[in-house]
Amino acid sequence: IDVDEDEENLISKELIHCCPKEKGWRTSFLYKFQGFWCQPKEIQAIISFQKHFRARNSDVILATIPKSGTTWIKALTFAIMNRKNFPISNENHPLLRSNPHDLVPFLEYKLYANNQNPNLSNIPEPRIFGTHVPYGSLQESIMGSDCRVVYICRNPFDTFISSWHYCSKLRSESQPPFPLEEAFKMYCKGVIGFGPFWEHMLGYWKESLERPKNVLFMKYEDMKEDAISQLKMLANFLGVPFSIEEEEEGLVEEIMKLCSFENLKDLEVNKIGKSIKNFDNKYLFRKGEIGDWVNYLSPSMVEQLSKIMEENFGDSGLKF
Ligand code: A3P
Repeated sequence: IDVDEDEENLISKELIHCCPKEKGWRTSFLYKFQGFWCQPKEIQAIISFQKHFRARNSDVILATIPKSGTTWIKALTFAIMNRKNFPISNENHPLLRSNPHDLVPFLEYKLYANNQNPNLSNIPEPRIFGTHVPYGSLQESIMGSDCRVVYICRNPFDTFISSWHYCSKLRSESQPPFPLEEAFKMYCKGVIGFGPFWEHMLGYWKESLERPKNVLFMKYEDMKEDAISQLKMLANFLGVPFSIEEEEEGLVEEIMKLCSFENLKDLEVNKIGKSIKNFDNKYLFRKGEIGDWVNYLSPSMVEQLSKIMEENFGDSGLKF
């Protein structure tokens, strides 16, 4: 049995057959559900999440489109919010033993996957969750509550290259190599998990302008370039600002180092463990740089993607 056919059986055939369908990056097909592209398993989990999840005002939701810095923002937020329970310098800090995706679970890949309806009421507050779901499809109680949403956005050029590498690694051995040109065409058409990327980014961008106390829009590039001030901004937004004493003690720098690419990448758990959907953690840490796309994209690809960005981001104020 084809894997996707098997997956299709899991959710209403009628629903899936009403969704537009395109060839997928890693799986045979992606379906357009509620305006964005995803796999049948994800649709099933998102339906369950939308039906059952109830946000609390103290919740923190970390949202991204894949390959934008999800692992990083999960590590940073976990470290900042739990710094009283888990001192950063402690050699048993959870981030040294667990992958960030195990400490901050995805709503759609973990908690509501496989039609589960988990009891989340026992998780101590503040609860931190991750998601790739676009803003417009978040559960209503998230939008209607005072909970905080942090979005991390990355330059679409780098996000594309990171996605291509990741999908190439995860494709099964029976699949042929995934040509960059083919992936690029799909990306430009918006066909990528949770895409089109411009709609995903703009959804959170607009909401961050309308509800700045509840939605924080951060950029991967700003975090790379000035992590300290970005961390302070993040802690302020989360309602747990660094005290003067903490700053003087160098705590912000310590968090930055604990969660750095170099530190996380070399931890045993991230070299040999598995977290999301049983995929190897090591693939979550590739280069962690800004601008790697220059090594892959031809001038005409750059022109094409720049044009798409110009057309879609237009005068929204979102710039890269
Ligand atoms: P590259 O493929 O460009 O190296 P996500 O976590 O959303 O899956 O994103 C993965 C990207 O973030 C990869 O980018 C990965 O190397 C990078 N990354 C992972 N951990 C990071 C960290 N702690 N700091 C900076 N970048 C990180």
